[in-house]
Amino acid sequence: MNDNQAFFDHINKGYITKGDFITMGAAMYKGETIANAHVKIPLKTLNRHGLIAGATGTGKTKTLQIIAENLSEQGIPVLLMDIKGDLSGIAAASPGHPKINERHEKIGIPFEAKGFPVEILSLSDQDGVRLRATVSEFGPVLLSRILDVTTTQAGIISIIFKYCDDNKLPLLDLKDLKKVLQFATREGKEELEKDYGRISTASTGSILRKIVELEQQGADLFFGEKSFEVQDLCRIDENGRGVINIIRLTDIQDKPKLFSTFMLSLLAEIYSTFPEQGDSGRPELVIFLDEAHLIFKEASNALMGQIESIVKLIRSKGVGLYFVTQNPTDIPDGVLSQLGLKVQHALRAFTAKDRKAIKLTAENYPISEYYDTKEILTSLGIGEALISALDEKGRPTPLAATMLRAPMSRMDILSEQELKDHLKKSKLIPKYNEEIDRESAYELLNDKIEKAEAEEAKVAAKKEREKLDRGSSNSSSRNRRTSATEKAVIKVLTSATFIRGALGVLNKLLK
Ligand SMILES: Nc1ncnc2c1ncn2[C@@H]1O[C@H](COP(=O)(O)OP(=O)(O)O)[C@@H](O)[C@H]1O
Ligand SMILES: [Mg+2]
Repeated sequence: MNDNQAFFDHINKGYITKGDFITMGAAMYKGETIANAHVKIPLKTLNRHGLIAGATGTGKTKTLQIIAENLSEQGIPVLLMDIKGDLSGIAAASPGHPKINERHEKIGIPFEAKGFPVEILSLSDQDGVRLRATVSEFGPVLLSRILDVTTTQAGIISIIFKYCDDNKLPLLDLKDLKKVLQFATREGKEELEKDYGRISTASTGSILRKIVELEQQGADLFFGEKSFEVQDLCRIDENGRGVINIIRLTDIQDKPKLFSTFMLSLLAEIYSTFPEQGDSGRPELVIFLDEAHLIFKEASNALMGQIESIVKLIRSKGVGLYFVTQNPTDIPDGVLSQLGLKVQHALRAFTAKDRKAIKLTAENYPISEYYDTKEILTSLGIGEALISALDEKGRPTPLAATMLRAPMSRMDILSEQELKDHLKKSKLIPKYNEEIDRESAYELLNDKIEKAEAEEAKVAAKKEREKLDRGSSNSSSRNRRTSATEKAVIKVLTSATFIRGALGVLNKLLK
């Protein structure tokens, strides 16, 4: 038996699978692609999470595209975080290329060109289905983590949520939350302290500052109605293909806090609404995070802990998370240790630091008698990667340097016009893109303050009248009288109604 035959058997035995699977490509040995030595990932293991890593331009995003397409074809919905805006082409068929045919001949899979069902979503006012969540859905715990507040301040946030719950004040957007926080140390001070204990102005002040910081990253666009139902991410089209949801995040890559807020709320929402999954053998939803280092970049320890535990928990809901990033060291160890699939594209060895990272990366892969892992990490070509997966029984598969298949859809983006036409066909845009600002905590509290102050003014005016009726009418007292009534009127004018109007204008300006 020659060397190549032994290698072929080694791969075929290691990647054997009885259930449904996706084919990534064919294994390579001594720089040659071994036709039909297919590297297959069982669908059953796709909720075990994964990593796609490698230097810029080595093919990470295309690998994401390949996996997404093949999942869609098997009727599994996908969610892609499109940080660079380079994924919309999945909706159109590949124009094909002689090089692609050549690649597929080597692999031993016929090439087919086709587009896939795509829904485009957005966190901001870019085109696409608007993704929003209300502050109450977000909840006090997550909010405290995101705002990175102290334990005392987190306690106050919980009180605020409880107070709003008890008093039927809907917390929809950040405007509501800020209003209640202000109310708690001013007009509502007595009322809240009676039932919930002391709330210090210093603490609410700090919380308010943190909220403003979050707003400056554009979070006011994200909080509010109509809130997105995560089940809408799990649609199947009329041909039984899973919908590929693409969230365009091009305008928030410099806003890591907003990005992690959104990711965490999405994962929490999925975790709380998806049913616990038995052993169905198929994932419910597979999520890819391109440029994943962005979520971890400015995450506090508390937030990191939250991410680690949700990564662990969400698996039982049949949801797989795939991190796409340049270097595996971008991902915290607690997350890295939970990943079942690893697709490592080429790494570059320019600096001493690079070489150290390569050594570290190589050590994290299973030992193979066929490869020198460290050497192969720097010699892989574009669209080739070192793969280590889990087989159906959860055992690691043999390490395989893989010639990856090409995407069936277009590798380039949709044109402006194509995108416009595509968005017109969306069924979710009419459902989510209407602006709603229903009566919530902000308006209700303003009403309450307004009424209290009007009442106060009435009492003051009555007192004045009584004084007047008692007959004193010298000019100085009339002056005093006028000024007191005037004060009451001014107070009413400058209170709630006026402030609400001014804020309304401000809000419009900021949008
Ligand atoms: N599997 C593949 N099949 C064919 N061409 C590929 C493949 N992977 C990468 N390429 C080529 O390499 C280029 C860069 O790939 P890309 O995925 O954008 O890299 P990265 O995300 O790592 O920066 C693509 O535009 C494409 O021309
Ligand atoms: Mg990329």
